[in-house]
Amino acid sequence: MPSLDPALRKRLCSSLAPRYRKALHTHLKSPGAASRRRATAIGRSAQSSGLVTLDLAIIHEQAVVALAADFHFASPRNSALRQASEFFTCALIPLERAQSVAREAHDNLILRNQILSRHAKALALGNRRLEREVVRRKAAVVLAHDSKERYRVLFLESQVMQKKLRNLTRQIITAQEEERREISRELHDDVVQTLVGINVELSALGKGASVGLKALKAKIARTQRLVTNSVNAVHRFARELRPAVLDDLGLIPALNAYTKSLSERKKLKIHLSAFAGVEALGSAKRTVLFRVAQEALTNVARHAQATMVSMNIREIKGSIRMEVTDNGKSFAVEKTLLTHSRNRLGLVGMRERVEMVGGSLSIISVKGKGTTVRAEIPFDADTKKS
Ligand SMILES: Nc1ncnc2c1ncn2[C@@H]1O[C@H](COP(=O)(O)OP(=O)(O)O)[C@@H](O)[C@H]1O
Ligand SMILES: [Mg+2]
Repeated sequence: MPSLDPALRKRLCSSLAPRYRKALHTHLKSPGAASRRRATAIGRSAQSSGLVTLDLAIIHEQAVVALAADFHFASPRNSALRQASEFFTCALIPLERAQSVAREAHDNLILRNQILSRHAKALALGNRRLEREVVRRKAAVVLAHDSKERYRVLFLESQVMQKKLRNLTRQIITAQEEERREISRELHDDVVQTLVGINVELSALGKGASVGLKALKAKIARTQRLVTNSVNAVHRFARELRPAVLDDLGLIPALNAYTKSLSERKKLKIHLSAFAGVEALGSAKRTVLFRVAQEALTNVARHAQATMVSMNIREIKGSIRMEVTDNGKSFAVEKTLLTHSRNRLGLVGMRERVEMVGGSLSIISVKGKGTTVRAEIPFDADTKKS
């Protein structure tokens, strides 16, 4: 219970004091249950108005002093002091009872506070655990989302790659078929026609045994020329399919032989300059460079209407760079690459071959200047001789 304001306490004590004195007076004169009940009632009033044991003790003290004239408190034989004490005790009962209830409540409160603080600690611990769990789960959710997204991107990429691969396979099959048709046509036109010619000449020789020696020599010389032509044609096919010189002598001799033969056949000036160290490249990379040069030069001969081509191979910052530049008519590179024509595998094939060995290919075509095909292949110790 909150403590009373001192002025109010004084007022309450002064108003209760006469009642107490009067009741004590009655009790001292004739002690009994009724006066004891009165004492307890006064105690209840004191307790309900907020007074405490000490206030009642003072009121009692003052009453005893006031009644000292009427009753002899000092004499041990006189029972007045005992009766007064009994009255005071009865008055104290409600206060004491209230106080013990308050003490009990207070003790309970302390106990409850202790329990509450224990619970609060357990709760705080639980909260911290929960917070950590929330953070962990949030991170897990982010991680799951991230990897889901990564898998989705990878999946999409793999689908695109699959589609590209399927297209490329189809293109390769078509191009192979086209190449076979071309070889078969050329074999028929060049070699077979020449062999038929030889046959005609030989049968004429058999029949015309009567012709003069001079005519006979001329016929034999014609037949020999035809044989030489066929031998050359067969050599050319073999060279184009897989030049033995590339394996036996190296890239530069193979390119020399190829450019020489092409420039003779197509009336095209080809200038070749090459860095000798290129031969240190592994066989796979040298083959890639040869095929790119072959395709680029064939394209120049077929499409560019150029008069000059320059081919250059050099080492640039750990890479081998090969450039084939013509002075012919230009073309729309991006558009041509994007147009998926089944029979046009030259440009796409060049890029695929170069990328297969970790390199890159770029084609620059400028109106009025011509076209440059540039292949760059890594030239490091690991891949040398691979
Ligand atoms: N050096 C070049 N000069 C001009 N046009 C070129 C050159 N190289 C390629 N092209 C153009 O690009 C097209 C595609 O070339 P390519 O893929 O090699 O197929 P193909 O040679 O079978 O036509 C050619 O048809 C041609 O129009
Ligand atoms: Mg081509």
